[in-house]
Amino acid sequence: MSKYRIAWMPGDGIGIEVMEATQIVLDKLGLDAEYVPADIGWEFWCTEGEPLPQRTIDILKTCTCGLFGAITSKPKEEAAKELVPELQDKGLVYSSPIVRLRQLFDLYCNLRPCKAFPGNPLNYKDDIDLVVFRENTEGLYSGVEFYPFPDDLRAKITEANPKMDRFKDIQSNDIAVSLRVITRRGAERIIRKAFEYAKEFGYPTVTLVEKPNVLRETSGLMRRVGQEVAKDFPQIELWETNIDAQMMWLLKNPDDYGVIVTSNMFGDIVSDLAAQLVGGLGFAASGNIGDEFAVFEPTHGSAPKYTGQYKVNPNAMLLTTRLMLDWLGESDMAQALEKAIAAVIAEGEVRTYDMGGNSSTLDVANAVAGRL
Ligand code: NAI
Ligand code: MG
Repeated sequence: MSKYRIAWMPGDGIGIEVMEATQIVLDKLGLDAEYVPADIGWEFWCTEGEPLPQRTIDILKTCTCGLFGAITSKPKEEAAKELVPELQDKGLVYSSPIVRLRQLFDLYCNLRPCKAFPGNPLNYKDDIDLVVFRENTEGLYSGVEFYPFPDDLRAKITEANPKMDRFKDIQSNDIAVSLRVITRRGAERIIRKAFEYAKEFGYPTVTLVEKPNVLRETSGLMRRVGQEVAKDFPQIELWETNIDAQMMWLLKNPDDYGVIVTSNMFGDIVSDLAAQLVGGLGFAASGNIGDEFAVFEPTHGSAPKYTGQYKVNPNAMLLTTRLMLDWLGESDMAQALEKAIAAVIAEGEVRTYDMGGNSSTLDVANAVAGRL
Protein backbone atom coordinates (compact mmCIF):
# COMPACT_ATOMS: atom_id res chain seq x y z
CA MET A 1 0.00 0.00 0.00
CA SER A 2 1.20 3.51 -0.77
CA LYS A 3 1.88 6.01 1.98
CA TYR A 4 -0.60 8.54 0.57
CA ARG A 5 -3.83 8.42 -1.42
CA ILE A 6 -4.25 11.55 -3.47
CA ALA A 7 -7.54 12.40 -5.17
CA TRP A 8 -6.58 13.36 -8.72
CA MET A 9 -8.99 15.95 -10.14
CA PRO A 10 -7.78 17.50 -13.42
CA GLY A 11 -11.18 19.06 -14.15
CA ASP A 12 -11.52 21.01 -17.40
CA GLY A 13 -9.48 22.69 -20.11
CA ILE A 14 -5.90 23.50 -19.18
CA GLY A 15 -6.53 21.84 -15.80
CA ILE A 16 -5.93 18.56 -17.62
CA GLU A 17 -2.70 19.82 -19.19
CA VAL A 18 -1.14 21.23 -16.03
CA MET A 19 -2.04 18.08 -14.09
CA GLU A 20 -0.24 16.04 -16.76
CA ALA A 21 2.76 18.30 -16.19
CA THR A 22 2.65 17.75 -12.46
CA GLN A 23 2.40 13.98 -12.88
CA ILE A 24 5.75 14.05 -14.70
CA VAL A 25 7.33 15.87 -11.78
CA LEU A 26 5.71 13.73 -9.06
CA ASP A 27 6.85 10.56 -10.84
CA LYS A 28 10.39 11.90 -10.96
CA LEU A 29 10.25 12.82 -7.27
CA GLY A 30 9.04 9.31 -6.53
CA LEU A 31 6.36 10.33 -4.05
CA ASP A 32 4.97 7.18 -2.45
CA ALA A 33 1.39 7.86 -3.45
CA GLU A 34 -1.57 6.33 -5.17
CA TYR A 35 -3.33 8.83 -7.42
CA VAL A 36 -7.06 8.21 -7.49
CA PRO A 37 -8.83 9.79 -10.47
CA ALA A 38 -11.97 11.67 -9.46
CA ASP A 39 -14.57 13.36 -11.68
CA ILE A 40 -15.18 17.08 -11.33
CA GLY A 41 -16.19 19.88 -13.66
CA TRP A 42 -18.25 20.99 -16.59
CA GLU A 43 -18.70 17.65 -18.35
CA PHE A 44 -20.39 16.22 -15.25
CA TRP A 45 -22.64 19.23 -14.90
CA CYS A 46 -23.77 18.89 -18.53
CA THR A 47 -24.31 15.12 -18.49
CA GLU A 48 -25.32 14.47 -14.87
CA GLY A 49 -26.45 17.87 -13.60
CA GLU A 50 -23.74 17.73 -10.93
CA PRO A 51 -20.20 19.16 -11.36
CA LEU A 52 -19.14 17.50 -8.08
CA PRO A 53 -20.65 13.99 -8.21
CA GLN A 54 -21.26 12.15 -4.94
CA ARG A 55 -18.76 9.45 -6.05
CA THR A 56 -16.04 12.13 -6.03
CA ILE A 57 -16.96 13.19 -2.51
CA ASP A 58 -16.82 9.50 -1.49
CA ILE A 59 -13.34 9.17 -3.03
CA LEU A 60 -12.15 12.33 -1.30
CA LYS A 61 -13.25 10.91 2.04
CA THR A 62 -10.85 7.98 1.54
CA CYS A 63 -7.90 10.18 0.52
CA THR A 64 -5.09 11.98 2.34
CA CYS A 65 -5.74 15.13 0.29
CA GLY A 66 -6.82 16.28 -3.15
CA LEU A 67 -5.00 17.82 -6.09
CA PHE A 68 -7.16 19.82 -8.47
CA GLY A 69 -6.45 21.43 -11.86
CA ALA A 70 -9.18 23.87 -12.92
CA ILE A 71 -12.79 23.90 -13.89
CA THR A 72 -15.03 25.77 -16.28
CA SER A 73 -18.03 27.44 -14.75
CA LYS A 74 -20.76 29.62 -16.21
CA PRO A 75 -23.55 31.85 -14.90
CA LYS A 76 -26.80 30.20 -13.86
CA GLU A 77 -28.84 30.71 -17.04
CA GLU A 78 -26.05 29.78 -19.43
CA ALA A 79 -25.21 26.70 -17.39
CA ALA A 80 -28.82 25.50 -17.47
CA LYS A 81 -28.86 25.76 -21.29
CA GLU A 82 -25.90 23.41 -21.64
CA LEU A 83 -27.49 20.52 -19.77
CA VAL A 84 -28.26 17.42 -21.89
CA PRO A 85 -31.88 17.43 -23.09
CA GLU A 86 -33.02 14.85 -20.49
CA LEU A 87 -31.92 17.17 -17.67
CA GLN A 88 -33.39 20.38 -19.08
CA ASP A 89 -36.28 21.94 -17.14
CA LYS A 90 -35.61 19.86 -14.04
CA GLY A 91 -34.84 22.99 -12.05
CA LEU A 92 -31.12 22.11 -11.66
CA VAL A 93 -28.99 25.07 -10.56
CA TYR A 94 -25.24 25.20 -11.17
CA SER A 95 -23.00 25.92 -8.19
CA SER A 96 -19.21 26.00 -8.05
CA PRO A 97 -17.77 22.61 -7.06
CA ILE A 98 -14.66 24.18 -5.54
CA VAL A 99 -16.68 26.46 -3.27
CA ARG A 100 -18.70 23.39 -2.26
CA LEU A 101 -15.54 21.41 -1.52
CA ARG A 102 -14.27 24.20 0.71
CA GLN A 103 -17.49 24.24 2.69
CA LEU A 104 -18.08 20.47 2.74
CA PHE A 105 -14.63 19.70 4.13
CA ASP A 106 -14.37 22.93 6.16
CA LEU A 107 -11.20 23.97 4.32
CA TYR A 108 -11.10 27.30 6.11
CA CYS A 109 -7.60 28.38 5.24
CA ASN A 110 -6.80 29.55 1.74
CA LEU A 111 -3.02 29.72 1.53
CA ARG A 112 -1.52 31.67 -1.36
CA PRO A 113 2.23 32.19 -1.42
CA CYS A 114 3.56 34.73 -3.94
CA LYS A 115 7.29 34.70 -4.38
CA ALA A 116 9.41 36.52 -6.94
CA PHE A 117 11.74 33.91 -8.40
CA PRO A 118 15.06 35.40 -9.49
CA GLY A 119 15.20 35.76 -13.25
CA ASN A 120 11.44 35.76 -13.81
CA PRO A 121 10.96 38.55 -16.37
CA LEU A 122 7.41 39.04 -15.07
CA ASN A 123 8.46 40.08 -11.56
CA TYR A 124 7.22 43.50 -10.61
CA LYS A 125 10.13 43.82 -8.18
CA ASP A 126 12.73 41.43 -6.83
CA ASP A 127 12.68 40.22 -3.23
CA ILE A 128 8.91 39.86 -3.04
CA ASP A 129 7.96 37.00 -0.74
CA LEU A 130 4.33 37.32 0.30
CA VAL A 131 2.14 34.61 1.79
CA VAL A 132 -1.55 35.43 1.91
CA PHE A 133 -3.85 33.65 4.37
CA ARG A 134 -7.42 34.16 3.28
CA GLU A 135 -10.35 32.96 5.37
CA ASN A 136 -12.18 30.61 3.05
CA THR A 137 -15.61 29.83 4.50
CA GLU A 138 -17.28 32.95 5.89
CA GLY A 139 -17.19 36.76 5.58
CA LEU A 140 -18.97 38.36 2.64
CA TYR A 141 -18.82 35.06 0.75
CA SER A 142 -20.88 33.17 3.33
CA GLY A 143 -23.69 33.00 0.80
CA VAL A 144 -26.24 34.54 3.17
CA GLU A 145 -27.85 36.92 0.73
CA PHE A 146 -31.31 38.42 0.21
CA TYR A 147 -33.04 39.78 -2.84
CA PRO A 148 -35.67 41.02 -2.63
CA PHE A 149 -35.18 41.99 1.00
CA PRO A 150 -37.84 40.11 3.05
CA ASP A 151 -40.14 42.57 4.84
CA ASP A 152 -40.10 40.84 8.23
CA LEU A 153 -36.30 40.72 8.24
CA ARG A 154 -36.17 44.33 7.15
CA ALA A 155 -38.44 45.38 9.98
CA LYS A 156 -36.33 43.50 12.52
CA ILE A 157 -33.09 45.04 11.28
CA THR A 158 -34.59 48.54 11.32
CA GLU A 159 -35.68 47.94 14.90
CA ALA A 160 -32.22 46.72 15.88
CA ASN A 161 -30.24 49.39 14.08
CA PRO A 162 -31.60 52.88 13.26
CA LYS A 163 -29.05 53.26 10.44
CA MET A 164 -31.41 51.15 8.35
CA ASP A 165 -33.94 53.99 8.50
CA ARG A 166 -32.09 55.84 5.76
CA PHE A 167 -33.33 53.28 3.23
CA LYS A 168 -36.96 53.39 4.30
CA ASP A 169 -38.25 54.94 1.05
CA ILE A 170 -36.74 52.22 -1.08
CA GLN A 171 -38.91 49.25 -2.06
CA SER A 172 -37.86 45.83 -0.86
CA ASN A 173 -37.42 44.55 -4.40
CA ASP A 174 -34.92 47.33 -5.02
CA ILE A 175 -32.59 46.29 -2.18
CA ALA A 176 -30.09 43.44 -2.19
CA VAL A 177 -28.29 42.50 1.02
CA SER A 178 -25.26 40.23 1.59
CA LEU A 179 -24.29 39.42 5.14
CA ARG A 180 -20.67 39.71 6.20
CA VAL A 181 -20.52 36.96 8.78
CA ILE A 182 -17.35 36.87 10.91
CA THR A 183 -17.20 34.43 13.79
CA ARG A 184 -14.68 34.44 16.60
CA ARG A 185 -13.85 30.82 15.78
CA GLY A 186 -13.39 31.64 12.07
CA ALA A 187 -11.20 34.66 12.83
CA GLU A 188 -9.13 32.85 15.44
CA ARG A 189 -8.30 29.78 13.39
CA ILE A 190 -7.19 31.66 10.25
CA ILE A 191 -5.14 34.19 12.21
CA ARG A 192 -3.53 31.44 14.26
CA LYS A 193 -2.63 29.55 11.07
CA ALA A 194 -0.94 32.70 9.74
CA PHE A 195 1.10 33.16 12.93
CA GLU A 196 2.09 29.49 13.05
CA TYR A 197 3.27 29.71 9.46
CA ALA A 198 5.24 32.89 10.18
CA LYS A 199 6.89 31.14 13.10
CA GLU A 200 7.68 27.95 11.19
CA PHE A 201 9.13 29.69 8.15
CA GLY A 202 10.81 32.62 9.89
CA TYR A 203 8.72 35.62 8.86
CA PRO A 204 9.17 38.50 11.34
CA THR A 205 5.71 40.04 10.85
CA VAL A 206 2.07 39.14 10.29
CA THR A 207 -0.01 41.87 8.66
CA LEU A 208 -3.70 41.77 9.50
CA VAL A 209 -5.56 43.57 6.70
CA GLU A 210 -9.10 44.72 7.48
CA LYS A 211 -11.12 47.95 7.68
CA PRO A 212 -12.07 48.31 11.34
CA ASN A 213 -12.58 52.08 11.16
CA VAL A 214 -15.61 51.51 8.90
CA LEU A 215 -16.61 47.87 9.37
CA ARG A 216 -16.55 48.41 13.10
CA GLU A 217 -18.09 45.14 14.15
CA THR A 218 -16.83 42.54 11.68
CA SER A 219 -13.34 43.94 11.06
CA GLY A 220 -13.34 45.02 14.70
CA LEU A 221 -13.72 41.40 15.79
CA MET A 222 -10.93 40.29 13.45
CA ARG A 223 -8.74 42.97 14.96
CA ARG A 224 -9.44 42.03 18.58
CA VAL A 225 -8.84 38.36 17.86
CA GLY A 226 -5.64 39.27 15.99
CA GLN A 227 -4.30 41.10 19.02
CA GLU A 228 -5.18 38.16 21.29
CA VAL A 229 -3.53 35.56 19.06
CA ALA A 230 -0.44 37.76 18.65
CA LYS A 231 0.22 37.47 22.39
CA ASP A 232 1.01 33.76 21.89
CA PHE A 233 3.73 34.68 19.38
CA PRO A 234 5.89 37.33 21.08
CA GLN A 235 8.70 36.89 18.53
CA ILE A 236 6.40 37.95 15.65
CA GLU A 237 5.20 41.51 15.19
CA LEU A 238 1.53 42.14 14.37
CA TRP A 239 0.99 44.89 11.82
CA GLU A 240 -2.54 46.18 11.29
CA THR A 241 -3.48 47.90 8.06
CA ASN A 242 -6.60 48.92 6.15
CA ILE A 243 -7.41 47.08 2.94
CA ASP A 244 -7.45 50.19 0.75
CA ALA A 245 -4.13 51.58 1.99
CA GLN A 246 -2.65 48.08 1.88
CA MET A 247 -3.31 47.87 -1.86
CA MET A 248 -1.29 51.05 -2.29
CA TRP A 249 1.53 49.88 -0.04
CA LEU A 250 1.69 46.49 -1.72
CA LEU A 251 2.26 48.17 -5.03
CA LYS A 252 4.74 50.67 -3.62
CA ASN A 253 6.75 48.51 -1.22
CA PRO A 254 5.77 44.85 -1.70
CA ASP A 255 9.08 43.69 -0.23
CA ASP A 256 8.16 45.18 3.18
CA TYR A 257 5.51 42.52 3.76
CA GLY A 258 5.62 38.80 4.55
CA VAL A 259 2.64 36.93 5.94
CA ILE A 260 -0.70 38.66 5.32
CA VAL A 261 -3.95 37.48 6.90
CA THR A 262 -7.46 38.65 6.15
CA SER A 263 -11.12 37.75 5.70
CA ASN A 264 -12.62 36.09 2.65
CA MET A 265 -13.31 38.88 0.16
CA PHE A 266 -10.36 41.07 1.14
CA GLY A 267 -8.20 37.96 0.79
CA ASP A 268 -9.57 37.32 -2.68
CA ILE A 269 -8.52 40.83 -3.68
CA VAL A 270 -5.13 40.95 -1.94
CA SER A 271 -4.10 37.57 -3.32
CA ASP A 272 -4.82 38.51 -6.94
CA LEU A 273 -2.71 41.64 -6.63
CA ALA A 274 0.04 39.70 -4.85
CA ALA A 275 0.01 37.06 -7.59
CA GLN A 276 0.33 39.66 -10.31
CA LEU A 277 3.40 41.14 -8.59
CA VAL A 278 5.25 37.86 -9.11
CA GLY A 279 4.18 36.86 -12.61
CA GLY A 280 0.42 36.44 -12.64
CA LEU A 281 -1.77 33.39 -13.06
CA GLY A 282 1.04 31.19 -14.36
CA PHE A 283 2.65 31.40 -10.91
CA ALA A 284 -0.32 31.60 -8.54
CA ALA A 285 -0.49 28.49 -6.35
CA SER A 286 -2.95 27.80 -3.56
CA GLY A 287 -4.01 25.37 -0.89
CA ASN A 288 -7.46 25.04 0.67
CA ILE A 289 -6.55 23.70 4.07
CA GLY A 290 -8.65 22.43 6.97
CA ASP A 291 -7.64 20.71 10.18
CA GLU A 292 -7.65 17.23 8.70
CA PHE A 293 -7.97 17.55 4.96
CA ALA A 294 -6.77 19.79 2.16
CA VAL A 295 -7.31 20.39 -1.55
CA PHE A 296 -4.54 22.06 -3.52
CA GLU A 297 -5.18 24.03 -6.73
CA PRO A 298 -3.59 26.69 -8.92
CA THR A 299 -5.74 29.81 -8.79
CA HIS A 300 -6.18 30.08 -12.55
CA GLY A 301 -9.22 28.74 -14.37
CA SER A 302 -9.59 26.43 -17.37
CA ALA A 303 -8.47 29.09 -19.91
CA PRO A 304 -10.66 27.87 -22.81
CA LYS A 305 -8.67 30.05 -25.20
CA TYR A 306 -5.62 27.81 -24.72
CA THR A 307 -7.27 24.46 -24.14
CA GLY A 308 -5.64 21.55 -25.93
CA GLN A 309 -2.60 23.59 -26.96
CA TYR A 310 -0.21 22.75 -24.09
CA LYS A 311 0.84 26.38 -24.13
CA VAL A 312 0.13 27.56 -20.57
CA ASN A 313 2.61 27.86 -17.75
CA PRO A 314 2.56 24.85 -15.43
CA ASN A 315 4.50 26.66 -12.69
CA ALA A 316 1.30 27.58 -10.81
CA MET A 317 0.40 23.88 -10.70
CA LEU A 318 3.96 22.80 -9.84
CA LEU A 319 4.14 25.34 -7.01
CA THR A 320 0.75 24.08 -5.87
CA THR A 321 2.22 20.57 -5.78
CA ARG A 322 5.06 21.96 -3.70
CA LEU A 323 2.50 23.23 -1.17
CA MET A 324 0.91 19.79 -1.07
CA LEU A 325 4.28 18.16 -0.41
CA ASP A 326 4.87 20.56 2.46
CA TRP A 327 1.44 19.83 3.92
CA LEU A 328 2.12 16.09 3.67
CA GLY A 329 5.29 16.65 5.68
CA GLU A 330 7.55 15.81 2.73
CA SER A 331 9.69 18.91 3.25
CA ASP A 332 12.76 17.55 1.46
CA MET A 333 10.79 16.84 -1.68
CA ALA A 334 9.01 20.19 -1.37
CA GLN A 335 12.30 22.03 -1.19
CA ALA A 336 13.84 20.01 -3.99
CA LEU A 337 10.86 20.82 -6.20
CA GLU A 338 11.03 24.53 -5.45
CA LYS A 339 14.77 24.56 -6.14
CA ALA A 340 14.24 22.82 -9.48
CA ILE A 341 11.49 25.26 -10.48
CA ALA A 342 13.68 28.20 -9.46
CA ALA A 343 16.62 26.82 -11.45
CA VAL A 344 14.57 26.46 -14.63
CA ILE A 345 13.19 29.99 -14.23
CA ALA A 346 16.65 31.47 -13.57
CA GLU A 347 18.20 29.64 -16.50
CA GLY A 348 15.55 31.14 -18.79
CA GLU A 349 15.85 28.59 -21.61
CA VAL A 350 12.51 26.85 -21.20
CA ARG A 351 9.70 29.36 -20.94
CA THR A 352 6.03 29.38 -21.83
CA TYR A 353 4.40 32.19 -23.82
CA ASP A 354 3.51 34.33 -20.80
CA MET A 355 7.22 34.61 -19.96
CA GLY A 356 8.09 35.50 -23.53
CA GLY A 357 9.12 32.00 -24.60
CA ASN A 358 7.60 29.35 -26.83
CA SER A 359 8.15 26.18 -24.84
CA SER A 360 5.20 23.95 -24.10
CA THR A 361 3.61 23.11 -20.76
CA LEU A 362 5.26 19.69 -20.82
CA ASP A 363 8.66 21.11 -21.88
CA VAL A 364 8.66 23.09 -18.63
CA ALA A 365 7.62 20.03 -16.61
CA ASN A 366 10.37 17.95 -18.21
CA ALA A 367 12.94 20.67 -17.58
CA VAL A 368 11.94 20.81 -13.91
CA ALA A 369 11.96 17.00 -13.67
CA GLY A 370 15.42 17.04 -15.26
CA ARG A 371 16.66 19.15 -12.36
CA LEU A 372 15.41 16.74 -9.73
P1 NAI B 1 -8.53 31.80 -16.54
O1 NAI B 1 -7.71 31.80 -15.32
O2 NAI B 1 -8.98 30.49 -17.03
O3 NAI B 1 -7.71 32.48 -17.73
C1 NAI B 1 -7.60 33.86 -17.96
C2 NAI B 1 -6.35 34.12 -18.79
O4 NAI B 1 -5.21 34.06 -17.97
C3 NAI B 1 -6.08 33.09 -19.87
O5 NAI B 1 -6.77 33.35 -21.05
C4 NAI B 1 -4.60 33.21 -20.02
O6 NAI B 1 -4.31 34.33 -20.82
C5 NAI B 1 -4.13 33.46 -18.63
N1 NAI B 1 -3.74 32.24 -17.93
C6 NAI B 1 -4.48 31.49 -17.06
N2 NAI B 1 -3.76 30.47 -16.59
C7 NAI B 1 -2.54 30.57 -17.16
C8 NAI B 1 -1.35 29.80 -17.06
N3 NAI B 1 -1.26 28.71 -16.28
N4 NAI B 1 -0.29 30.19 -17.78
C9 NAI B 1 -0.35 31.27 -18.56
N5 NAI B 1 -1.43 32.04 -18.69
C10 NAI B 1 -2.52 31.69 -17.98
O7 NAI B 1 -9.79 32.78 -16.27
P2 NAI B 1 -11.07 33.06 -17.16
O8 NAI B 1 -10.73 33.13 -18.61
O9 NAI B 1 -11.71 34.21 -16.53
O10 NAI B 1 -12.03 31.82 -16.94
C11 NAI B 1 -12.06 30.66 -17.77
C12 NAI B 1 -12.92 29.61 -17.11
O11 NAI B 1 -12.30 29.17 -15.89
C13 NAI B 1 -14.30 30.12 -16.70
O12 NAI B 1 -15.22 29.10 -16.94
C14 NAI B 1 -14.16 30.41 -15.23
O13 NAI B 1 -15.39 30.31 -14.56
C15 NAI B 1 -13.21 29.31 -14.81
N6 NAI B 1 -12.41 29.60 -13.59
C16 NAI B 1 -12.14 28.54 -12.77
C17 NAI B 1 -11.34 28.70 -11.66
C18 NAI B 1 -11.00 27.48 -10.88
O14 NAI B 1 -11.05 26.39 -11.40
N7 NAI B 1 -10.61 27.60 -9.62
C19 NAI B 1 -10.79 30.00 -11.30
C20 NAI B 1 -11.06 31.03 -12.27
C21 NAI B 1 -11.85 30.83 -13.36
MG1 MG C 1 -10.10 35.39 -7.04
